[in-house]
Amino acid sequence: MQEFNDRIAVITGGASGLGRAMAERLGQEGMQLMLADVDATALDKTAAALRAAGLTVATQRTDVSRAEDVEALARATLDRYGAVHVVCNNAGVAPLGAVWESTTADWTWGMGVNVWGVIHGVRVFTPILLAQGTDGHIVNTASVAGLISPPGMGVYNVTKHAVVALTESLHHDLTRAKARIRCSVVCPAYFPSGIADSERNRPDELQSAPKTPNQLVMGASMKKAVSSGRLTAADVALQVFRAIEEERFYVITHRAIKAAIEMRMQDILNDRIPTDPMGGR
Ligand SMILES: NC(=O)c1ccc[n+]([C@@H]2O[C@H](COP(=O)([O-])OP(=O)(O)OC[C@H]3O[C@@H](n4cnc5c(N)ncnc54)[C@H](O)[C@@H]3O)[C@@H](O)[C@H]2O)c1
Repeated sequence: MQEFNDRIAVITGGASGLGRAMAERLGQEGMQLMLADVDATALDKTAAALRAAGLTVATQRTDVSRAEDVEALARATLDRYGAVHVVCNNAGVAPLGAVWESTTADWTWGMGVNVWGVIHGVRVFTPILLAQGTDGHIVNTASVAGLISPPGMGVYNVTKHAVVALTESLHHDLTRAKARIRCSVVCPAYFPSGIADSERNRPDELQSAPKTPNQLVMGASMKKAVSSGRLTAADVALQVFRAIEEERFYVITHRAIKAAIEMRMQDILNDRIPTDPMGGR
């Protein structure tokens, strides 16, 4: 997509972190924004800050794990702007712990936001983009955890591998349909954001306390890794914008992590036991 000015972008998880940074980036390119987030207070604050910076921003409180909320988001976008050109399915949460420690609530929460959220976004918005007949772009935020499987975060890994597979499938289906819509999958390593604190928005009915000692250790180490990430959310958002402009599919923002991706691919192709991408045994 080359034209951004006065076109419309929808961004889920838009109140914080990468969602907010993509809103700022796309807004600076002249796009009008629809921000969606489950956290209404944070959403209002972010929208106010972006408006103060001169951007055009509408908001819709949305729990992306709920089909009806994403359908309402699409209606609100069309009511407000009459069209949509970029859709960023970005909201995400990070349940932690060994695979066997993860509760049904952990799986339901993680799959609901990270997988169903993207499924609903693609299912609801792609037909709108196709019917419009214009060019457009769908950006799904996965993670490098969609290409490798670091220990201690099995739920997250499963959800992000699903987002990679879903987006690759979307690409093939759009190509076969000769659509003018492109898509990208964003696979960052750690960058500072609220992700290590994502329990703040876990719904009451999916609480899973108390945490095991291992989950507490994982939580502390994720906080450290996220806060010491070298790239900022704005750096990642700039790479996403360039990928939309240049129609690039894989957005692997942290170049050094490619060694771990290659190791996994080699493990598969050479029939080896998986190497721990974090260097453990
Ligand atoms: N920060 C990192 O290191 C990192 C690395 C790789 C991938 N990611 C991915 O980036 C995306 C954005 O996360 P972030 O790092 O900016 O974290 P963040 O916590 O700063 O932002 C995520 C936003 O999603 C919202 N959200 C949570 N549940 C929701 C729901 N059910 N419906 C709608 N919104 C909901 C939160 O309120 C929050 O505003 C996520 O998909 C995350 O998995 C982050």
